[in-house]
This record gives sequence, structure tokens and C-alpha cells, in this order.
Amino acid sequence: MKLLDRGSSLTIWAPAKANLFLEILGKRTDGYHELATLMVAVALFDELSFADDPSGSFHLECDRPDLSTGPDNLILRAARLLQTRTGCGRGARIRLVKRIPMMAGLAGGSSDAAATLIALDRLWQTGLKAEELASLGAELGSDIPFFFHLPAAWCTGRGEKVEPIRLARPLDLVLLLPSFGLGTAAVYKQVRLPRDPETGADIRQALEAGDVETVGSRLFNRLEEAATSIEPRVEEYRRRLEQEKPAGARMSGSGSSLFAVCRDPEEAARIARAIEPWAKEQQARVLVARTGHLPDDGSAGD
Ligand code: C5P
Repeated sequence: MKLLDRGSSLTIWAPAKANLFLEILGKRTDGYHELATLMVAVALFDELSFADDPSGSFHLECDRPDLSTGPDNLILRAARLLQTRTGCGRGARIRLVKRIPMMAGLAGGSSDAAATLIALDRLWQTGLKAEELASLGAELGSDIPFFFHLPAAWCTGRGEKVEPIRLARPLDLVLLLPSFGLGTAAVYKQVRLPRDPETGADIRQALEAGDVETVGSRLFNRLEEAATSIEPRVEEYRRRLEQEKPAGARMSGSGSSLFAVCRDPEEAARIARAIEPWAKEQQARVLVARTGHLPDDGSAGD
């Protein structure tokens, strides 16, 4: 993640993610699902600023009034976890500029939590290794460890076992962000376990080879059917993206966002323009974004 260190304060840019492949392999005794997923960072960023507070207390401010800034917020949970585990007596004043849509399957909250661990470890000079920070993150959410292995990784277990993979070239995406959100737990509850799970070997190989056409044709998400059973517009929205003939289109994570994989930036711009009037009627938002985890010059996705 990009981090700007000013000594007693710093700013970090937390990217979104998309799942190019997500298969459910089974249900575990702890209530979680065993999965295999191919995740890529998406260049759409929340911006978090931290200022040291030697008193040991935390204060979080956010530009979105609909996001809780109380102790349940993952940013504060991550901050407290690092403080407790390292025995560090310091606190922080935190400002969050939220750009990653919420309840969208883009892991904005998880990315913010990972960014918090990285930023506070630096600010407080607690000196943890990335692997130690990632395993603290895993205690807070299954998607958090991925953000220590950007920009692309193959994730297994409940999502917390991360194997970084090479992204041969960036992918040009069109994101379609519905006005409705979907809750992760609710979607997982509706999942039907496959008898013969997809392996994802083809799409993984294609991503490593930079073969966009095959990546697009092999996009897969087992949670899409479950999400559609809760909100049928998920499928309708994917079909709308597919009408524009991108290399492929899918839902990300547990939804509700969808994305199209395009062959180049021009195609992404064309598709975004083509679906814009329809999306407006649906009160959905359309964004063009590339895969990747570093903002150009700190402009961070505006
Ligand atoms: O780990 P995280 O807090 O992101 O998970 C949110 C919810 O999603 C869990 O409470 C669980 O219901 C579901 N989940 C799951 N299997 C996973 C990841 C998440 O069932 N591998």
C-alpha cells in the first residue's frame, strides 16, 4: 500500500479488491466455509490519515455519516488489537475518506483494517513483520491477510491463507455498483455446496500469463447464485454488462457489486458510457478502474 510518512502523522491509501474466481469447497465446523479464491487489488482507494496520540486513546472521524465510527468499526478494532498485543501505550487520531462502496464485496472495511495495522505499526514503531500483522488481521476478518500480498493472490482456508501470484498485466475493469448492498453472512447462508468444485486452475494460469480473453471467459463466483436468490437484480445487472461484450463479467465476493473485465482502457470507457443511462435509471453507479494497489501520485481514485 502507498504510505506517506510525516513522522508524527501519516497517510495510507487502502485499495479495493475483486474476486476473479471464488469456489466454495465445504462447510467447516466453525461455521465458516472453506474456499478457494483468486483476488486482485483494484485501484479505488480509501484514504486513512493517522496522528499519534500519546494518551493511548483513539478517535475516528469519517466523511460518510452512514458509517459507524464506534468501537465496532474494523479500523478501531484493528488499532486496539495492535495496541493490546504489542503492549504499546499509544493511541491515534484517525481520519477516513471513504471511496470504496460499502456492502459491495470489494472488501473496503478489510482493506481499511489492514491499512490501520500497517500504518500504526509504522507510527508507533512496534516493528512487527508483515506476516505478524497479517495474522493479527486474520483474527478480525477472512479477507484482511490478502492486503499484505498485493496486487494478486490465490487465497484458501476461510480466505486467510494467501499465496501471492504474479499479475502479468493490469486488467481494465468496469465496476457496476447497485444502490442495494448485500450482507456477507446472509449470502453465505444461501450457498449450495458443489458436488464437483471448480479448480480455478485455468483462470489462475491465464492471469499469470496476461491472457485477458481467457481470464474473462473463466470468471467464476459460487456466491453469485446465492446472492441472486436474495436479490434477483444481481443476475439482471450481470447480463446488462455482458450485453456490451466485455471479455467477461461477474459479481465480486458476496456482492452486491459486479465487474466487467475489458480488453483495454478504451473498451472499458466505451462500456461504462454505454451502460451509464441504464445504470442511472437503476440508481446504480458505474466506475472505470484498473487492477493494482498503488494510486498514481496520491490522487487515489478520484
Ligand atoms: O471473516 P469475515 O468477518 O469477513 O466473514 C463474515 C461472514 O461471512 C462470516 O461471519 C461468515 O458468515 C461468512 N464467511 C464464511 N466463510 C468464509 C468467509 C466468510 O462463511 N470463508
